[in-house]
Amino acid sequence: MATLLRALQGDITRLAVTAIVNAANSSLLGGGGVDGAIHRAAGPQLLEACRPLGGCNTGEAKLTRGYRLPAQYVIHTVGPIWQGGSRDEAQRLAACYRNVLAIAAREGMPSLAFPCIGTGVYGFPAEQAAQIAVATVRACLPHCPQLEEVLFCCFSSADLERYQRLLSKDPC
Ligand code: AR6
Repeated sequence: MATLLRALQGDITRLAVTAIVNAANSSLLGGGGVDGAIHRAAGPQLLEACRPLGGCNTGEAKLTRGYRLPAQYVIHTVGPIWQGGSRDEAQRLAACYRNVLAIAAREGMPSLAFPCIGTGVYGFPAEQAAQIAVATVRACLPHCPQLEEVLFCCFSSADLERYQRLLSKDPC
């Protein structure tokens, strides 16, 4: 069965999917933006679960439970800090999506929700980030036969419009 890719606008901490993705920093010990919102909604057990993970490199991903979240799990990944585009930022952002999907495949997860990784505090240009997100997820789907639905959870209406436009186009 084909995986459904869908964009929606809202707070990722409210989504009852198998796993939500956290746009974390390399300490994995919390921060602002979506990371702060996820830690607040999940409760203090999430921080306790993150401590022994020993941080996370840019582009990699690590798994915890979701605790008080409606989502069962959180997959934490670390986007690149935008430095003008010549420091492999695009490849490193794509690696975030690939490594999250590899964990989802390994764990047999049927549904996932991504925030717009890297596009807040880390400054990745939103249009390019959305193109990378959609293209990378589409390219990985053959390796994720268990996935029924992938949600792109947009905080802003501009991001929602962007993802809806990209998702309505056929993959090239
Ligand atoms: N639900 C969905 N999206 C959200 C939410 C939410 N509750 N809150 C913010 N966003 P950012 P980054 C959007 O800055 O750029 C943290 O301090 C936000 O509008 O959260 O990867 C970490 O600890 C934007 O579109 O993540 C790191 O230090 C997107 O989520 C650093 O920020 C990502 O913005 C990571 O920066």
